[in-house]
Amino acid sequence: MGFFSKDIKSLNDLFMHGLQDLYYAENQIAKSLPDMAEKATNAQLKAGFEKHLSETEGQIHRLEQVFELMETDPEGEKCPAIDGILKEGKELMGEIEGEDVMDVGLVAAAQAVEHYEITRYGALIAWATELGRNDCVPMLKANLAEEKATDQRLTAMAERRINPKAEGKPTKSQPKSTARRSKSKRIARPAAKAKRNGSKKARRRA
Ligand SMILES: [Fe+2]
Ligand SMILES: [Fe+2]
Repeated sequence: MGFFSKDIKSLNDLFMHGLQDLYYAENQIAKSLPDMAEKATNAQLKAGFEKHLSETEGQIHRLEQVFELMETDPEGEKCPAIDGILKEGKELMGEIEGEDVMDVGLVAAAQAVEHYEITRYGALIAWATELGRNDCVPMLKANLAEEKATDQRLTAMAERRINPKAEGKPTKSQPKSTARRSKSKRIARPAAKAKRNGSKKARRRA
């Protein structure tokens, strides 16, 4: 990274470094998404990865527009952070057996990627604004909005799994926490009935 060779001397240098970093990251993500889509067994998750692949291709194009505005050729700077996140996700996929668990692992791995992108776009938007490069901001904000929307869709999928009633169907392997909740509801119902009966008796006695 250029940071250690001290070739970042100004906020503008830092912005350009961040832009190159994200350009590299988006290209690596675009290479990983087809594999994630292939491994996903849930149709919604698979479609979500395919949708985000086409969004990512658009994001790469928007970054190229920012490079053009900065009068620089698009160039990637090797980013160890995204390499690590993607490598960890890939290794995890290789260790998982079972479709249901695979989807859960994929959602978590994808969210790690989205969260990384969200922090990077947030920083780039702040730096572009400070540099008075408001012309670059709309492209960066458009990319950030897609990352946030993707993250929210992934969160919704994770929540539906924890609470299958939200989707209207049970999952094969319900987590223990949910199972406990269902049991406590079953216990709660007779207690509530007894309470109602009790209040009827009380009314009859009155
Ligand atoms: Fe992206
Ligand atoms: Fe993304």
